[in-house]
Amino acid sequence: MELKKIVGYAAAELVENGNVVGLGTGSTTHYFIEKLGERIKNENMEILGIPTSYQSFLLAKDSGIIITTLEENNIDISVDGADEVDSNFNLIKGGGAAHTIEKIVDEAATKFVVIVDDSKIVDKLGAFPVPLEVIPQACRTVSNHVKKFEGIPSLRMAKMKDGPVITDNGNFIVDVQFNAIENPANLEKDLNAIPGVVENGIFAGIVDEVLVGTAEGVKTLKKV
Ligand code: 5RP
Repeated sequence: MELKKIVGYAAAELVENGNVVGLGTGSTTHYFIEKLGERIKNENMEILGIPTSYQSFLLAKDSGIIITTLEENNIDISVDGADEVDSNFNLIKGGGAAHTIEKIVDEAATKFVVIVDDSKIVDKLGAFPVPLEVIPQACRTVSNHVKKFEGIPSLRMAKMKDGPVITDNGNFIVDVQFNAIENPANLEKDLNAIPGVVENGIFAGIVDEVLVGTAEGVKTLKKV
């Protein structure tokens, strides 16, 4: 079985009857949401889901998961994918341009579990570019700012649509390539301080547990 599927299915077993669940975005969480839907049906579970994107909203509806919002409920457990995970459980996310809502939901959860295949585990973040969700009018000024941090910015272009990617919130994505990121927490704060940046894809210090799909099965890494 594909590693993303193995780990997505394993994460669905962490959800308990009565939980309010944050539903991450991406191809790995696709399997998590699919399996959670199966468990709800087969085990008669009462679960509420809080999606992090239109993708996870639509998939949750198709999977029979009842949707709620952060206005109405607190989150017991959130399960989400990542583009990179370092040895201190800091992340780069936003490969699917959904990191703003993902960060709101994942950070609000009592327990935040990340699900990845083993290709995403790195010593230091930085091979994957850091996505910035940017107010469209600020695209050029934000791009100039990130050069001061030795980042190389590029506007993310859409596929099957002319022009740039437009996020679920109506904004652009500027991907910034850095060298190895020495201090993810500081860079996360610095990038968010640039006028026009809505949110960046560094998630520093909020992960509780990482499930890693490997050829030998799923490994659970817990915060020490
Ligand atoms: C979306 C994300 C995804 O969780 C991240 O890009 C990983 O995606 P995938 O599971 O498809 O590899 O942050 O914004």
